[in-house]
Amino acid sequence: MNTAQRFRLSIFVPKSTQSPGSITSNTMSRATQLSQARASVDSKQCMSIYEKWASTYNDDLAESTGNYVAPVLAAQAALRFGSDNPAKAVILDAGCGTGLVGQALSRGGATIIDGVDLSPHMLKVAEKTGAYQNLTVGDLTQPIDALEDFYDIVMCVGTFTHGHVGPDPALREFVRVAKRGGLIVATIIDELWVSGGFKAEVEKLEAEDLIRVVSMELEDYVKGRGDKATLVILEKNSTA
Ligand SMILES: C[S@@+](CC[C@H](N)C(=O)[O-])C[C@H]1O[C@@H](n2cnc3c(N)ncnc32)[C@H](O)[C@@H]1O
Repeated sequence: MNTAQRFRLSIFVPKSTQSPGSITSNTMSRATQLSQARASVDSKQCMSIYEKWASTYNDDLAESTGNYVAPVLAAQAALRFGSDNPAKAVILDAGCGTGLVGQALSRGGATIIDGVDLSPHMLKVAEKTGAYQNLTVGDLTQPIDALEDFYDIVMCVGTFTHGHVGPDPALREFVRVAKRGGLIVATIIDELWVSGGFKAEVEKLEAEDLIRVVSMELEDYVKGRGDKATLVILEKNSTA
C-alpha cells in the first residue's frame, strides 16, 4: 500500500458541534431520531441530528434490538462477491457513521478500511471500533476526496435514504474511486429506489459502459420498522 496515495486521516470536530445541545439523545426516542434524520432538509440539519445521536446510535438501532441488519448483510455480500482475500482488499465505507459496517467487514477478515462521514461525532465512535485505518469528515453530496481507481470495494449502507444523500454525484463518485473490476455495494431505501432517481442513475452508468450490475435484491433493512432496501452490487468495468 502506498500510504502517500491514501487520503488523509482527519477527524475535525468543529467547536459548534461539540456540545449535544438542548435536545439530548437520551430524551429522544429512537424512532424520533431516525424519523428526524430522514426528514432533514439539507446536509447541515442531517449532520446536527447525527451529532446528537452518535453516542446512542448503535444501541438504538443495532445492539439492543438487532433490528438494523443492513450493515451485516451488505458486508457479507461485499466480501462474498468482492474479494478472495479480504485482508488485502482496500475498502471505502462511505457514510460510515459509527462503524457498524467496518466492524462487520473486520469480522469477515477485512483489514484495510477507510471511512468517510458528514458527522464528526459519528466518526469519533467509529474510531473507537479500531476497524478503520483512515476516517475523514466528508460530504457525499460533493466530490469525494479520494484518488481515482483506488478502492477494491466501496460500501454505502444506510446513507441512501430520505433526507440524506441522493444518487448524483455519489454513485458516479463511487465508480470513479473504485478500481477497475472493483465493487460498489450500496443499500437504497426501497421507497427511493425509483422515485429518488437511484434506478435511473444506475441505468445511466450502465449505458455509459462504466459498470455492470452484479446483483440487485430487495433485502431487510431495519426489521422492527419493516423497512426494506435494495442492495445493489455494481462492478466497475475494466474499460471504464
Ligand atoms: C443511518 S446512518 C448509517 C451509518 C452506517 N453506514 C450504518 O450503517 O450504521 C447514515 C449516515 O450518513 C451520514 N450522512 C448523512 N448525510 C451525509 C452526507 N451528505 N455525506 C456524508 N455522510 C452523510 C450520517 O452522518 C450518518 O452517519
